[in-house]
Amino acid sequence: MLHSKKLQAAAVLFLSVFILDSCKKDITDSALEIESARAKNKTVLTPIQQLGKQIFFDARLSEPVGVQSCGSCHAPQVGFSGFGEIPTGGAASAQGFKRGFVAGIGEGAVAGAFGRRKPPTAAYATMSPIFTLTTVPPDPAEIALGIGPAKIFQGGLFWDGRATGLRLNSTAAEQALGPFLADKEQNHTNPAQVLGKLRNNRAYIALWQAAFGSPDINNLTAEQTALNYDRVGQAIAAYEGSPEVNQFSSKYDAYKAGRATLTPLEAEGLSLFIAPAPGGECYDCHTQSRLANVEPPVGDPFTTFMYFNDGIPANPNNPGGNVAPDAGLGGMLETSSNPEWRAMASIEYGKFKTPTLRNVGKAQKFMHNGVFSSLEEVVHFYNTRDLLGAGWNGVPWAAPEYPFNMDFHGVGGLGLTANQEAAIVAFMKTLSDGYTGPTQ
Ligand code: HEC
Ligand code: HEC
Repeated sequence: MLHSKKLQAAAVLFLSVFILDSCKKDITDSALEIESARAKNKTVLTPIQQLGKQIFFDARLSEPVGVQSCGSCHAPQVGFSGFGEIPTGGAASAQGFKRGFVAGIGEGAVAGAFGRRKPPTAAYATMSPIFTLTTVPPDPAEIALGIGPAKIFQGGLFWDGRATGLRLNSTAAEQALGPFLADKEQNHTNPAQVLGKLRNNRAYIALWQAAFGSPDINNLTAEQTALNYDRVGQAIAAYEGSPEVNQFSSKYDAYKAGRATLTPLEAEGLSLFIAPAPGGECYDCHTQSRLANVEPPVGDPFTTFMYFNDGIPANPNNPGGNVAPDAGLGGMLETSSNPEWRAMASIEYGKFKTPTLRNVGKAQKFMHNGVFSSLEEVVHFYNTRDLLGAGWNGVPWAAPEYPFNMDFHGVGGLGLTANQEAAIVAFMKTLSDGYTGPTQ
């Protein structure tokens, strides 16, 4: 549905550019203008999306005031994800930042407060379905081995899926309510404090009226506070689902629309990405279809939103510490009120949600704990994790952070050449939004 909205927006844009310019310019010029308009994000937001955007980037919504917004850890210039390294303390402000990043982990509004996970991108997050336990039929190879259907967790937000979306019927609206109150993020005491800041601001009152038909951002009773705080989440989710965030404006999208050509290296990377062994096998977890040798269609978020343990090593520089391995999905399930889910926790420890690969070329650190620093390193890890002595920059791969429940299908020993690794990296870089290159 989101995608068809995007197509509608593109169609309106195309028509207006075409009608205005058809007298003086040819079609090629119009197509170029569409590309540059897309690149400049000239998207018209609805009132609720505009409200969400204003909240998303408002650094007054932190305690202390003025040091952090959602956008500090989900910055558009790095694909709505976080940064790699930004010095903390006074040195951060010298670079125009109020808070730092250490090894890909963002500092909270309270100076020196760090969680242990990397901010995933907030773009395309709205495409993650409500968290469920789903049944996946076996593929032909599994049928041949006598393997039956598997029960796999899917959807939700956060690396461990704990924003299930079950209460508000929106994963993104539920997720957005957490950071304002988390002490390692924006650090408010309670929802009423957040609403109080919006209430005192004329710009918010007008947008609130337009979005919800009432100007009153009431935080005086518990009921009103709960209702209006949920609306904050819904507004942020509306912005995150808007064509300004879920842009579908990458070179790959232009290629699928017949408006761009992949270089030979990118095209080879795409075929390896969707090839079964001895190819890259990435399609199995990073496409919606999970079909071998089928190009991901327009609108694919490049993830199944399912959970796996890739055997990622701990991040030795994690400022949030590595005292115990991160239990991931299993840790979330063991506290669940659903007995079936609770009973499955032990086989889900160490698993994390497969992230979208859209905009991954803009990211500075990779994986749930930020342990890898380049796409080259990531692909080399997938290719060689299980080979004795293999590693990066002369240092062997460290042991997995969580050595159980690991995935061996498509991870560990792919047998790719160095050139094939480079091709897969080149392909992933075609997934960055804001493509302005040549069109045809
Ligand atoms: C201090 C940095 C920081 C701030 C501020 C912050 N986030 Fe995040 N965000 C993170 C981290 C870290 C995670 C992953 C946490 C986890 O999985 O346990 C995350 C996860 C998310 C996700 C889930 C994406 C996915 O695919 O699962 C979304 C969406 C998101 N944040 C949006 C927001 C919004 C909206 C705000 C403001 C209300 C916000 N963030 C504020 C660091 C931050
Ligand atoms: C078995 C499922 C699976 C397969 C196969 C797979 N991935 Fe992943 N991928 C994941 C999961 C799960 C994560 C997150 C793991 C974590 O952080 O612990 C991930 C993370 C990544 C990331 C880091 C993204 C980020 O935002 O940090 C990249 C890049 C990536 N995969 C690319 C690939 C490529 C390229 C291939 C094929 C060579 C591939 N993946 C094959 C499941 C898979």
